[in-house]
Amino acid sequence: MELKKLKYMFPLQRGRRLRQNESLRSLVRETTLSPSDFMFPMFITEGENVKIEIPSMVGIFRRSIDLTVEEVKELFALGIRAVNIYVKVDESLKDNTGKEAWNSNGLMQRAIKAIKTACPEMIVMPDVALDPYSIYGHDGIIENGDVENDSTNEALVKMAVSHAQAGADFVAPSDMMDGRVLRLRQGLDAAGFHNVGIMSYSAKYASAFYGPFRDALGSAPKDADIEVPKDKKTYQMDYANRIEAIKEALMDVEEGADMVMVKPGIAYLDIVREVKNAVNVPVTVFHVSGEYAMIKAAAERGWLDHDKIMMEQLMCIKRAGASLISTYFAKEASIILNK
Ligand code: PBG
Repeated sequence: MELKKLKYMFPLQRGRRLRQNESLRSLVRETTLSPSDFMFPMFITEGENVKIEIPSMVGIFRRSIDLTVEEVKELFALGIRAVNIYVKVDESLKDNTGKEAWNSNGLMQRAIKAIKTACPEMIVMPDVALDPYSIYGHDGIIENGDVENDSTNEALVKMAVSHAQAGADFVAPSDMMDGRVLRLRQGLDAAGFHNVGIMSYSAKYASAFYGPFRDALGSAPKDADIEVPKDKKTYQMDYANRIEAIKEALMDVEEGADMVMVKPGIAYLDIVREVKNAVNVPVTVFHVSGEYAMIKAAAERGWLDHDKIMMEQLMCIKRAGASLISTYFAKEASIILNK
């Protein structure tokens, strides 16, 4: 690195010269944030005029489609250009095949259509994984006591094609099955959707930071009549691993991913930087539900300054190498950035 060639000799070099006032600091700032850096994760539920706050995620709601559309218009006006959408489906629609996931008239498909009709320029990225549709709360089909990889991939292809038919711009597989990006790319192309992109959750760790999200969708792994894994460790990554994240990201790019993701965010910024240096596609970072909840809880107690911590975390994620940040703070941070 260039750094080594220079002699940073005091008093000729004084680092503080560049920090004297905000104008100077702004001249030499290496990273900036703007609302178009964010994607907003949204939870959708059946009904009309429904808006229910998620107890472990203050300020985040499950909304019916009509209110989701209103919120999307507001987000767009703030400069946000992408939403990740997740649905909470009725328990009666859940089974072990996940077949409701590709119902052309399902909640997700109706939501995609409604958003794209009301706000065509908003990039809509539906989540592709079976957990909201699985009676066992797993991201795939259970066979012989575990999630069966290849049959799950075929279900995901049907799901992704139904999202594309509904008008999705991108699909976002969050399931961590092997080879699913390749199968999704092939399946989308075969159905004529070569312009529908894939944002792959490539390095998704088995993390306790997803707790509040599972509350939002009622999608936590459940006890069952058959043998099922009690957690997601047979498909999501071990958080002790680093090299494996690079391998997963490189494989996904080879399989056709247009963007890769590292998830969670703050505790995984070393991984974000390494993946960023290894791939030649945009890296997205999911600043997940538990990270959101921690800041909200500490701020509620007056222990941390909410807005400052929020902006610091988002900036640090960007500095680590994120091109895009999926964050529940997208709206609040955009309001501050637009001031
Ligand atoms: C499920 C999915 C999860 C999240 C996004 N998609 C939870 C999980 O894997 O159990 C987590 C998002 C968050 O915590 O904000 N495929």
